[in-house]
Amino acid sequence: DDFEGQGVWRYADALPFESGVSIQEGATPLYEAPRLEESIGVEALRIKHEGMNPTGSFKDRGMTVGVRVAEELGVGRLACASTGNTSAALAAYGSRGGMETLVLLPAGKVAAGKIAQASLHGARILEVDGNFDACLDIVQELAGQGEAYLLNSLNPFRLEGQKTIGLEILEGFLADYDTVPDRIVLPVGNAGNTSALYKAFRELVQAGELEEDDVPKLTGVQAEGAAPMVEAVENGADEVRRWEDVETRATAIRIGNPVNAPKALPGIRETGGTAVAVSDEEITEAQRDIAAEGIGVEPASAASVAGLRKLRAEGIVDDDERVACLTTGHLLKDPDAAAAAGSDPEPVPADTQGVLEHLQD
Ligand code: F0G
Repeated sequence: DDFEGQGVWRYADALPFESGVSIQEGATPLYEAPRLEESIGVEALRIKHEGMNPTGSFKDRGMTVGVRVAEELGVGRLACASTGNTSAALAAYGSRGGMETLVLLPAGKVAAGKIAQASLHGARILEVDGNFDACLDIVQELAGQGEAYLLNSLNPFRLEGQKTIGLEILEGFLADYDTVPDRIVLPVGNAGNTSALYKAFRELVQAGELEEDDVPKLTGVQAEGAAPMVEAVENGADEVRRWEDVETRATAIRIGNPVNAPKALPGIRETGGTAVAVSDEEITEAQRDIAAEGIGVEPASAASVAGLRKLRAEGIVDDDERVACLTTGHLLKDPDAAAAAGSDPEPVPADTQGVLEHLQD
C-alpha cells in the first residue's frame, strides 16, 4: 500500500525514508521521439514525460517525501504557493495523508486543470492579487510564524524525491544506449529540478557510481518573459536578479525570483550546461511537435524541446549528442492552451450525407 520498493521508492537508498505517503509516483516513460530527433538533428532524443505521474506532474515525486516528513513532524496544516502543479500535488498528497492543505495561487494565472485538482482534492484555495513570487513571499512568512508547514521546493525533502527523475533518466539511457545522456534539457521556474538533478549526480559521483566527466550537461530553459536564470547565466553572475514583471503563456514557469538559484546555478555551470530563453510562439510550436509524436504536454514542458531546438540551431548543442528532454506536466493541465494550439472543431449537420459533403469541401 505504501509503494515500498517501486517508482520513486525504488531509490529509497537515496532518500531519507524507506517509504512515503504514496499515490504510486515515478517510473514515468522515457519516450522515443524519432521525428523530433530527426528534425532537431541529434544522435538521440528521449522525452522523459513527468506528466504521467499520478497528478500529472513531477511534483508528486517531491510530495511523496515531503508529506511523509510532515506526517513524522505531526504538523497540522500543509501550505504552498503555486503556479498550479504544486497545489494540485499538495492537495492530493495532503488528502492521502489525512492532512489539511492551504494553497496560495496568483489570481487569473493558473491553468484550469490545476485549479480543478486542488479544488476536488480539498485544498483551501486562496487567490492572491499578485504573481507567484508574491504568493511565495507570503507563504514563507506564514510558515515562519508557525501557521503551516511549507511544501514549496524550498523544502529540501521535496528535492530529495525529485532527484529520482535524474536517476531514472540515467538508468533508461544505460539500458537503451549503454551510456548516460550527454545532456538533460529542462524547463526552469524555481530551479528546483535543476538543483535536484545536480544533487543526484553529485551523490553518484561521490559514491563512485558515475564519472565526473559523464555527468549530463544541465541545460535550463525559461520563457523570454520570465528569464532571470538565463540572464544570470549569460552574464556570468553569481546571483539572480529578481524580475518583478513576468509574463508568459507557460504559466507554470511564470516566475521572476527562482528561489533555488543558488543551488541550480553551480549545477548548470559545473556540468558544462547552459540556459536559454524561448518565445511563447516557440513554446507553442514545440508543444505541437511533441503532440505530433503522440505525447501530450503542457506549455511549460514544451519549453524544454523549444530550447533544445534553439541551442541545436545555434550550434551550442552538437549533432552527436544524446539528449533527454524533461516534460514536466500533462497536456490536460492546461486545456485552454492545448485547444488554442490545436485545430478548431468543425460544426456539421447530424446526418452522414451532410458529414460527407463537409469532408469533401
Ligand atoms: N514545469 C512545470 C509544469 C511546473 O509546474 C514547474 C513549476 C516547472 C516546470 C518549473 O520547475 O521550479 O523545478 O524549475 N511549478 C511550480 C508550481 C512553481 O507551483 O507548480 P522548477
